Amino acid sequence: MKRATRRSVLLLAAATVAFAFGCEKKAADPTPASGEGATKKLRLAFSQIGAESDWRKANTESIKAEAAARGFDLVFSDAQQKQENQIKALRSFIAQGVDVIAFSPVVETGWEPVLKEIKAAGIPVVLTDRAVEVSTDDLYVTFIGADFVEEGRRAAAWLAGATGGKAVVVELQGTPGSAPAIDRKRGFEEGIKAHPEIKVIKSQSGEFTRAKGREVMESFLKSPEGKQITALYAHNDDMALGAIQAIEEAGLKPGVDIKIVSIDAVKAAFEAMVAGKLNCTVECSPLLGPQLCDAVEAIAAKKPVEKRIVTNAAVFEQANAAKDITTRKY
Ligand code: AHR
Repeated sequence: MKRATRRSVLLLAAATVAFAFGCEKKAADPTPASGEGATKKLRLAFSQIGAESDWRKANTESIKAEAAARGFDLVFSDAQQKQENQIKALRSFIAQGVDVIAFSPVVETGWEPVLKEIKAAGIPVVLTDRAVEVSTDDLYVTFIGADFVEEGRRAAAWLAGATGGKAVVVELQGTPGSAPAIDRKRGFEEGIKAHPEIKVIKSQSGEFTRAKGREVMESFLKSPEGKQITALYAHNDDMALGAIQAIEEAGLKPGVDIKIVSIDAVKAAFEAMVAGKLNCTVECSPLLGPQLCDAVEAIAAKKPVEKRIVTNAAVFEQANAAKDITTRKY
């Protein structure tokens, strides 16, 4: 089984889209169509996961704004966290005969049949944000997104440094079966291996939402081991922000009694850092619109596209949050 995130290096898919797909459908022509100055708009269809977090909302905004700026005809669909809705949307994109299909897969597995249908229809696919597990990477042209394993490692490195390598950690995982939940967990585990006195005593999904993050953190705190907790690792900022509420309700000081590191670096996380309630956030940029649209244009023009496009990221700490917040874009 091949998995996009595990590809070791950025491979140049030197082939054109027609080659990559070995199919006959003509890719979209971004140049003016014949007729009185008429232009044929490139039809990009995008299946979004939902609106579970600030990250996701910023991601949707970025894609919509960039597609509009480039004059694409964007067909947008919100799956409301359900894989079955995404699969339905993908099939409807085939029926509509769009030029390029892009999607952020809610979970990693279960995509092979629909991706084969898309391939048979001759429509190029771009994966954004999250990877899929498929038997062959010929089923998509490129995957644009962050290195989630590295994000987990960075969170672990920060925690090890901030605690002198000693902490009793609880973990809030993302959506079960999703690439970021799997990879961020793995990266963190890798990162703490060298620190035997950092122990994860509880790990549960908070589904990437504030409400669930709060609920699960409350149950962690009320458990028999609740009083031992000295640190929280949350797979996204929204869950950390929900957990901060639960920690305060339990009469503890988030960021002080319990050190908190999360992932995304959304504006609300900086506000929490400025307030001293969150200690660190590892960036995962949702602003994928420009890179997605670059790839779509290259595909339409039958130009080569890198098989894996990794987005840049930084680590932000509480000490610099008041300054850093002034330049945050999401
Ligand atoms: O796939 C990216 C993750 O999905 C973000 O970290 C999280 O906030 C979102 O919902």
